[in-house]
Amino acid sequence: MRMLSLYSIKGGVGKTASAVNLASEAAGSGLRVLLWDLDPQAATTFYLKVKPKIRGGVEKLVKGKAAFNKVIRATNVDGLDVLPASLDSREMDHLLEHQGTSHLRQILARVRDEYDLVILDCPPTLSHMSENMFTSVDALLVPVVPSTLSLRTLEQLETFLDDRHLTCPLWPFLTLADRRRSLHREVIDSFDKRWPLRLSTVIPAASAVERMGLERAPVRHFAPASPAAHAYAGLWREVSQRLQ
Ligand SMILES: Nc1ncnc2c1ncn2[C@@H]1O[C@H](COP(=O)(O)OP(=O)(O)O)[C@@H](O)[C@H]1O
Ligand SMILES: [Mg+2]
Repeated sequence: MRMLSLYSIKGGVGKTASAVNLASEAAGSGLRVLLWDLDPQAATTFYLKVKPKIRGGVEKLVKGKAAFNKVIRATNVDGLDVLPASLDSREMDHLLEHQGTSHLRQILARVRDEYDLVILDCPPTLSHMSENMFTSVDALLVPVVPSTLSLRTLEQLETFLDDRHLTCPLWPFLTLADRRRSLHREVIDSFDKRWPLRLSTVIPAASAVERMGLERAPVRHFAPASPAAHAYAGLWREVSQRLQ
């Protein structure tokens, strides 16, 4: 069972859109996928038409007291299940503060035989939860908007991980990109040199992605021929090759 997270210290950069679309691509390729919505804002849960969990479910899970079948929900996407955001998942942080490293991976050991891939959609915070996540996942997928500030945030994350000797690999990729803008083109060109582990697929700024909130589905389900759907399929091909 492989584990990936969509993570950035910055909000609004496409973590959730990427988590949902990559999970859907992975499930479409035949993998059994679990998407864990760790953000209390519950956008992933909303996009996949799943009700947020009642209070207490995730708490019990972290403490090892709840059964997974009580907290995991099936989605309309074949092969994709969701562990919905819990209304009280801010308390996750407090819970994880008192657990050892890679506790998130240990919790999931109980469903190791049921899923090939777990994707974590994370809130944009540096917290006990994110530190636990860094030691749990195989790689961090970091969406980066082609802007100076967004690149700075990526460097800050790299420094944070280095300072704490966290060896979790950073796989950044560009998203919300608009090649008509010269700044975007410049950033896209320089990105390749600075970040050797980057994923080369660039996700364009696309109205299909914005429509996910109305359609409440991954883009491949309502706009399969769109550039955004092709881009996410390409991004998933790259990620899956690295995981092999
Ligand atoms: N490739 C894209 N093209 C256009 N809009 C996007 C794209 N990716 C994300 N968005 C929009 O940007 C906003 C933030 O995206 P989201 O995935 O929720 O970011 P995060 O999870 O990092 O906060 C949302 O309104 C979403 O619809
Ligand atoms: Mg989000």
